[in-house]
Amino acid sequence: MKHVIKFRPVLLATIAGALIATGCIAQEPKKGMSGPPPLAPLGPPPIPADNLLSPAKIELGKYLFFDPRLGGDASTGCSTCHEPDQGWSWAEDISRGYPGTVHWRSNQTIINAAYYSKLFWAGSSKSLESQAKSASKGGVAGNGETDIMEARLSLIPKYVELNKKAFGTEWPLLQDAYRAIASFERTLVQRDTPLDKYLLGDKSALSEEQIRGKKVFEGKGACIQCHNGALASDENYYNIGVPGVKRWEEDGLAQITFRFEIYAKGSTEEMYRTIKDDPGAYFRGKNKWDMGKFRTPSLRYAIYTAPYMHSGQFDTLDDVVDFYNAGGVAADGRTTSFPKTKSPLIKPLGLTDGEKSDLVAFIEAFSGDEIMMEKPELPPYAARFSKAELQAAQEAK
Ligand code: HEC
Ligand code: HEC
Repeated sequence: MKHVIKFRPVLLATIAGALIATGCIAQEPKKGMSGPPPLAPLGPPPIPADNLLSPAKIELGKYLFFDPRLGGDASTGCSTCHEPDQGWSWAEDISRGYPGTVHWRSNQTIINAAYYSKLFWAGSSKSLESQAKSASKGGVAGNGETDIMEARLSLIPKYVELNKKAFGTEWPLLQDAYRAIASFERTLVQRDTPLDKYLLGDKSALSEEQIRGKKVFEGKGACIQCHNGALASDENYYNIGVPGVKRWEEDGLAQITFRFEIYAKGSTEEMYRTIKDDPGAYFRGKNKWDMGKFRTPSLRYAIYTAPYMHSGQFDTLDDVVDFYNAGGVAADGRTTSFPKTKSPLIKPLGLTDGEKSDLVAFIEAFSGDEIMMEKPELPPYAARFSKAELQAAQEAK
């Protein structure tokens, strides 16, 4: 069953929600308690005090999310790569890129992005606001030029009007456009999954198979060590053994972006020339021990966001579970290019076929209905001065 979300600026706090609203991020095990924090129902997302939600902001943000004019040649906006019917993501190993490029990492879904304290696979962005800016300007994403994008906004009367309502200024500023997009993204959350219902007391929300899978998840499979708390992510960074992008071995175009990114992030000449895989979190502090580490992703909404992992190397959840069962090795024998930093938490699990299929069924319980949304009809440009106004100005001369 599919449903369409309308704007939901009002976020209702349930009791459980209030309890975990802030605690759902980066939970550390409490003192005196052993083991990771338990899975929990998802509360409302955190809203920053300097960018509170309002209906006008969310409406403007929705338009801008779907509007490719917030980019270089007006071809590639947020929704071009984050397609609602591809899980608000992109269903290829690595994401499509700006025309003339392909991206170098697998796309991430927008659903529930509002909960992460750091964004991107390697955690290189601090907020949805700054993330939107880097996405619209980045060379392999929107590739937009600041002044051009801002000028475009002020020549779209609908945006001028909504911007005035949302931010009170006469003409739209790009920084406010990013704030509007972030506000829209904060409404793209899913909190009514079978697992949420189960954890809130509806014991019929999970099937027998899923309840067995939950035991594997928390026990023999030990997934809970990293996929824990309300988001099913500890927001830490690990090298779990995921192999790099296979396409780089065959596709020159894809390798251009890989080399570009390695260079842009400030690597040595030698590294630029020789490195063959994505070093992930390494670039944040240039620490060797961070090579090949990526953020633990949420498992929420995952049934809609295949393929999986930062390099998009697994097409199905069954493949993912087989990979973990083998101790972080893919079916074709490929694994991380950075074996020295691989997490000691990842080791062969010895799961039976039954346990594996129970586990997959349980991962499915982290997803509710698919969130579909009709793309808004984009408002047209209008010249800032009408013909009559120009004529009047001429005559007055
Ligand atoms: C050319 C494709 C492309 C475009 C255009 C694009 N994105 Fe992305 N987006 C990606 C990819 C690929 C990633 C993962 C990149 C990484 O981790 O390095 C990503 C990651 C994200 C994330 C992080 C999610 C998480 O779990 O951390 C958010 C939020 C996001 N994009 C929002 C946007 C917004 C808003 C826009 C428009 C302003 C946009 N994106 C435009 C491809 C794109
Ligand atoms: C040591 C921490 C850790 C453990 C234990 C762990 N994971 Fe993960 N998981 C991660 C990280 C980190 C990633 C992303 C890795 C990457 O892209 O290189 C990930 C990715 C995933 C993904 C892909 C999600 C996506 O959006 O692409 C799934 C599904 C998943 N894990 C399920 C599981 C299951 C099932 C188990 C138990 C068998 C498990 N994980 C155990 C840390 C862990």
